[in-house]
Parts: sequence; C-alpha cells; structure tokens
Amino acid sequence: MLATLPAQPADALLALIKLYAADERADKIDLGVGVYRTGQGETPVFGAVKAAEQKLVAEQDSKAYLGPEGDMGFVEALKPVIFGKGFAPIARIDGMQTPGGTGGVRLAVGLAKKAGVTRVIMGSPSWPNHAQIMKDLDLGVVAFNHAKDGAVDMDALRAAIADAAPTDAILLHGCCHNPTGIDYSEADWDEIAALLKDKGLLPILDLAYQGLGYGMEEDAYGVRKVMATVPEALLAYSCDKNFGLYRDRVGAVYVLAASKDQLPAIMSNGASLARANWSMPPDHGAAAVRLILEDEGMTAQWLDELDQMRTRMRQVRDKLAASGTQGSVDMTPYGTQSGLFAMLPLTSEQILSLRNDHAIYMAGSGRINVAGLTTGNIDKFIDAIAAVSA
Ligand code: LMR
Repeated sequence: MLATLPAQPADALLALIKLYAADERADKIDLGVGVYRTGQGETPVFGAVKAAEQKLVAEQDSKAYLGPEGDMGFVEALKPVIFGKGFAPIARIDGMQTPGGTGGVRLAVGLAKKAGVTRVIMGSPSWPNHAQIMKDLDLGVVAFNHAKDGAVDMDALRAAIADAAPTDAILLHGCCHNPTGIDYSEADWDEIAALLKDKGLLPILDLAYQGLGYGMEEDAYGVRKVMATVPEALLAYSCDKNFGLYRDRVGAVYVLAASKDQLPAIMSNGASLARANWSMPPDHGAAAVRLILEDEGMTAQWLDELDQMRTRMRQVRDKLAASGTQGSVDMTPYGTQSGLFAMLPLTSEQILSLRNDHAIYMAGSGRINVAGLTTGNIDKFIDAIAAVSA
C-alpha cells in the first residue's frame, strides 16, 4: 500500500540549506531560510535565553506532562507583549501554546474550519507553507494581489474583502510580510479593521516577526487594531525569530471570542485539535520565554538584544537602498520595507546564475533574507545583482 505513494518534491526552501552547506566556495552567501544572522554571519543563542535556560535547568523539578495547552504561564506572559498593557478586549482573549508559529497557524486554521470556514482569502505571494496548510486541511484558497509597485495593493485587498462569502476567513500577516517585506501602514490597518468588521469576515492573523520591523509596539499595531475592532479573530504567534528559538519550536494561538463565556467551549476545540495533531507542545523553549518575561532584568536584556538585531537589519536595508538601481533592480524600496525579507524581481535564470556563478543562495521566488548580508559580503552581493540583471 505504501508503495503507491508518489514521491513529493522536497520543500524548496529547506532543500536550499543543504545545497548551501555542500558548496565549498569560501565567499558563499546564504540568503535562503529566514533566520537572523549577526554581522559575522552567525545565529547565536540570545544571552537572555541562555540565562533563562540556566535558571530552568537549576529550578525545573519535573518534566511531567502539562496538557495540550502547554505552559499557560508562557501564554499569559506573552499577552501584554502582543496586546500591550490595558488592552480593552483582553477578557475575551484566551490562548494556548503551539509547536512554533506553524503550529499556531495550523491550529487557528483548524479551528476556523471546525467552525464552518471553507475557504481562506490570502494575499499572493505569501509564505508557501500557508497554502500547504490550507491544502492539507482541504480548504479552498482565494488569492488577492499583496503588493504593487513596491507598496501594498490596497485596492486588491478591498475587493477581496468586499467579495468574501459568509464561510470565508482572511489570513493577514501582522508585520514583516513574508516574503515581500511590504507591510500595511497604520492608516491601512485602521481601514482594514473597519472593513473586516463591516463585512463580518473572520481574520486569521499571523504575527511571526514582532520586533524585527520597527519595534515591539509598532509591529503589533495591526493585530491590536483588528482585534480591538472585530468581534472574533484568531492569532498565530511565533517566538522562533524574536527570541531566536527556531528549533525549539515556540509559538501560540490566541482566540478573540465575541463574548467571554464562549471562550471555554472554543478553547476545548483547540485542545482536542492539538491532542489529535501533536498531543502537547514541546516545553523547553516556551518555559525559557516565560522565565524571561517574568523577570524584569532578563526582559530588558532580551529587548536590548532584539534592538540590536533590528538596528543591524535597518543598516543592511539602508545600504541596499543607498546603492540605487543595480542592473534592472531598483534597491531603494528595500530601505523602508520591514523584517527579514525582500523580493528581488529576478528571473529563475538570474537566480540560478547568482547561485552558480556567484555562490549566492536565495529562494527560487527571488526572496532574500536581508540578515544574510553583512558589511563583509554586501558589496559582492550588490555587484552580483548588477552583473546578472544587466
Ligand atoms: C522562512 O520563511 O524562511 C521561515 O519562516 C522558515 C520556514 O519555516 O519556512
């Protein structure tokens, strides 16, 4: 029976990690998968995380099961980080821990499906795994154009919301759009929140990069605005990037219910979906995040480290923007975009030539991880773009 399974292509982005590792050229540049890198090209463990892990090793007295909702201390400690202090609808919000942001998306979409959603409206392009999750859950996808001429395509979004059917939900990136880096402005979010409310359309918000764009508060503007406006919403959250905990898989899903009394029943559905999918999320990374957030000193250290990451990425973006037009690529818009990613308008031949002739690795879509650029390699990168796209 198993022999009938047709071979599946490897995930293109994850396959790139192996191709890069096998390349022996000393000046190779990895702009593939979305992990932060320092100016030395490293992805170190945060000092605050190391301190929390040491505390965890010293103090944790049991690794007995916690339950499908995971570490609820972690889920609670994150609430003021995501929603801010004094967030009016907080009594209508509950959450649970998930394996990474992907687990959060999976659970949010699974809950939406259980509640009757049949299609998810989402911008194109999007993180490829979004569509894969919808497909796996047998949900339809309705695409709208995310960006036009280096800015968000608000007309396309307005039309998509206007055309939504009663059993649709809409997936929106909270900040640091993956793959384009092109985000909604505060004025856009104000309009989006009002449109969603008027239409009665269920938002599924994906906040995977809070703090990597313009700041912790700034990057949360959209999700806060939407969740303060609509009656119901789902939010998938990731700590993989902003705590650098990638492989520990630290995430959460939050539910905004129309009334507080509905939360226990909704969350019991979340718990049963989690039980069937992964039973319980891994504890270690979430426990470390909780320890950081419960301690003022460690929180300050973490925020400081996050600040340094953001500042470095802004410097890289400034340098790209200052290079102007290289070959056929106008680099200036990258300066004001946000987060780890930017899209280069290159053909597949040009992307292949960057890999073969210049040892520069990027996703086949033309997405680059800007954190892969350093003072040591950015000039080579800019020259190579000029060379391949001339
Ligand atoms: C990315 O898009 O590079 C990251 O979100 C990693 C992943 O899981 O794809």
